[in-house]
Amino acid sequence: MTEPRELLIGQTVALSPDRPLSAGHDTRGGVLICDGKIEMVGHGPEMQTRFPDAKVTDYGEGLLLPGFVDAHVHYPQTAIIASWGKRLIDWLNTYTFPEEMKFGDPEYAAKIAARFFDLSLSHGTTTVASYCTIHPESVDAFFAEAQRRGVAAVAGKTCMDRNAPEGLRDTVASAYDDSRALLEKWHGKDRLSYAITPRFSPTSTREQLEALGALWTDYPLCLMQTHLSEQPDEIVWVAELFPEAKDYLDTYEMTGLLGHGGVYGHSIHLTDRERARLCEVDAALAHCPTSNTFIGSGLFDMEYFHRIQEKRVGLGTDTGGGSSFSMLRTMAAAYEIAQLRGLALHPRELLWLATEGSARALRLGDRIGRVAAGMDADIIVLDLASTPAIAQRAAQAETIWDAVFPTIMMGDDRAIRDVRVMGKPVKPC
Ligand code: GUN
Ligand code: ZN
Repeated sequence: MTEPRELLIGQTVALSPDRPLSAGHDTRGGVLICDGKIEMVGHGPEMQTRFPDAKVTDYGEGLLLPGFVDAHVHYPQTAIIASWGKRLIDWLNTYTFPEEMKFGDPEYAAKIAARFFDLSLSHGTTTVASYCTIHPESVDAFFAEAQRRGVAAVAGKTCMDRNAPEGLRDTVASAYDDSRALLEKWHGKDRLSYAITPRFSPTSTREQLEALGALWTDYPLCLMQTHLSEQPDEIVWVAELFPEAKDYLDTYEMTGLLGHGGVYGHSIHLTDRERARLCEVDAALAHCPTSNTFIGSGLFDMEYFHRIQEKRVGLGTDTGGGSSFSMLRTMAAAYEIAQLRGLALHPRELLWLATEGSARALRLGDRIGRVAAGMDADIIVLDLASTPAIAQRAAQAETIWDAVFPTIMMGDDRAIRDVRVMGKPVKPC
């Protein structure tokens, strides 16, 4: 049955890199939604005349944007976000692994999954790609909660058969069998997709990586997500564990885990060979800037991957290695890291990375990540004056980009005025 149409009115702006910066801003833009889809985008008053029966929701100066897409996050680390004083390997052993141990309990997993979606949605994130834990229960809890809320979501069982504590290790066979069973259960159901998920080379034997590579060959339409070259100590460790590999990326390539549909988190300290190879196979990278500063990992090369290599990058909070659930804060950190490398990312690029860039990295760019006719109606409304500090700065703005940049740099969940998932309001109070 067709639902009544709704016309959202507010400011609209084109994020597409193909449009001139001065084009595509409408202070009274209109987005017509029907049956969970965007039917038309245009000028609000004209659309009101053309569709007199549509229910009108007028957000005034609110900015209508695609819902944010978090391309790399760990929902099981929700409760340990902002844990003090460690770098990657110590941080995993001290905080992460003990917390992840709890997810064999389906009730605990369900409680944290619900908390995680409350937090993500209230920060304007309508799609995430999450790691789970080694426990199949953690994957069921995540997908059940995502399904209940009607969101598009990606996740997978995190596989580890070595260098993790007792109780947090699977085996070659169980990683393969569990991943396959979960994939068959959830992939393609409603708006859900499965990602084959080896945590990273140090916590998998070559045999486990090969088994997961074989699984990916059998299900090439699934994503594969993992971590790559986050910290120098980790890279040295990988070289010791895999002496036969040319470099870190090769540990994935020689086991069938490099390719189109692969999403490689962090990817900071890469050799020229690794960078070229990632681009050759059309792999996607997830830049996790708050995490990269918080755990002291390093400065991602946005110039190369976003500007030169045709936009193969999405943005991830990497919660709880990352220090915020907010994609606004994540964009701000991406801006700051690029500045440290001599690159000033434009507000449009930052918004594009957090929406279409991440959606494309997750191979969902044909359904989400843009406010355009035919796309799913996952839409957020930004208040560009959500705090006194932001409001006084935005009041000086002469262009929409100048008006939105203070919210990118200083905004948080208070800037998220409304959140629509398939057209329906979902912002938790
Ligand atoms: N590398 C392997 N596992 C993790 C994780 O959980 N978080 C981060 N930031 N890096 C990792
Ligand atoms: Zn991560």
